[in-house]
Amino acid sequence: MVKHTVTGGAGFIGSNIVAALIDQDAPVTVIDDLSSGYETNLEPFSHVEFDKASILDPASVRARIAGADAVFHLAASVGNKRSIDNPILDSQVNVIGTLNVLEACRRGDVRKIVYSSSAGIFGELKHLPIGEEHPVEPDSPYGVSKLGGEKHCLAYAKLYDLDAVALRYFNVYGPNQRFDAYGNVIPIFVFQMLQGEQITIFGDGEQTRDFVNVADVVQVNLTAAASDGVSGAFNIGSGTRITINDLARVLMDLIPEHGGVRYGPSRSGDVRDSLADISAARSALGYEPSVTIEDGLVEYVEWARQEIERL
Ligand SMILES: NC(=O)c1ccc[n+]([C@@H]2O[C@H](COP(=O)([O-])OP(=O)(O)OC[C@H]3O[C@@H](n4cnc5c(N)ncnc54)[C@H](O)[C@@H]3O)[C@@H](O)[C@H]2O)c1
Repeated sequence: MVKHTVTGGAGFIGSNIVAALIDQDAPVTVIDDLSSGYETNLEPFSHVEFDKASILDPASVRARIAGADAVFHLAASVGNKRSIDNPILDSQVNVIGTLNVLEACRRGDVRKIVYSSSAGIFGELKHLPIGEEHPVEPDSPYGVSKLGGEKHCLAYAKLYDLDAVALRYFNVYGPNQRFDAYGNVIPIFVFQMLQGEQITIFGDGEQTRDFVNVADVVQVNLTAAASDGVSGAFNIGSGTRITINDLARVLMDLIPEHGGVRYGPSRSGDVRDSLADISAARSALGYEPSVTIEDGLVEYVEWARQEIERL
């Protein structure tokens, strides 16, 4: 029987991957230190083997990875702000932790790793849409460490009998994405609106983002794990973009109890526009995003309402 390990499986994207693997009746092992993940994300799955451990502990990583058919590596210290607050931890987890995972793959006869990379590796954007050839000049410790993790994966694929696929996500959203200090714009807007609070748009709101639904990210992870002989880095967005003003308008229609919008000064370091060119993932992995932002937001708002009731 096919067996999988998911690092960071108690987190937002990881727990959605775990759910999809369980749907396929595949045994799943999760290693997660719960530093930003939630054990409740795994509660629906009684037969997930969960090890509360850090990827900085090589013995735990080896024990959980040996003999897996594929490893989905999501455990990371996530986000630009967190990395600026704590750059040492950021690189320890994202670079050394990734090397621990790769060493465990090499020693444990694992032939496939799917690495969650980030569009944060690109830094200031030079042109749209953003293809794989776009210059990588990260402007935060997080962008540097995610690029380092990606490059280590691709180097291992050249050195050893291991396929490595790095998926560079743009802005992912969907169920299990909680509001926190390092949160992304969709959870921040939705949780504030549901509590009747006013949201803040920084700048004129005409900046654009490529939001990709977690269901599409899960699908491409599964396809990447099943694609024999494919190694490389691929941009994973929706291939469409929306202004922050339009995002706010769609959400206000879905959340009548919202508390309105105020505009604040634009934030330094925020990119103006973002849009993934997904043609490489389309041809190598058959990637075809299927969830529109409108449908995805309906589902997310419903999940967030239930989450607030649970709290
Ligand atoms: N959410 C996005 O929009 C986005 C965009 C680009 C890339 N990514 C990447 O996707 C992956 C998952 O991100 P997410 O949004 O689900 O965030 P998340 O914070 O929900 O998930 C990260 C998980 O890793 C775990 N973790 C952190 N440090 C660990 C350690 N030392 N050992 C074991 N587990 C550890 C956390 O507890 C958490 O469960 C990350 O690698 C992130 O860099 C996410």
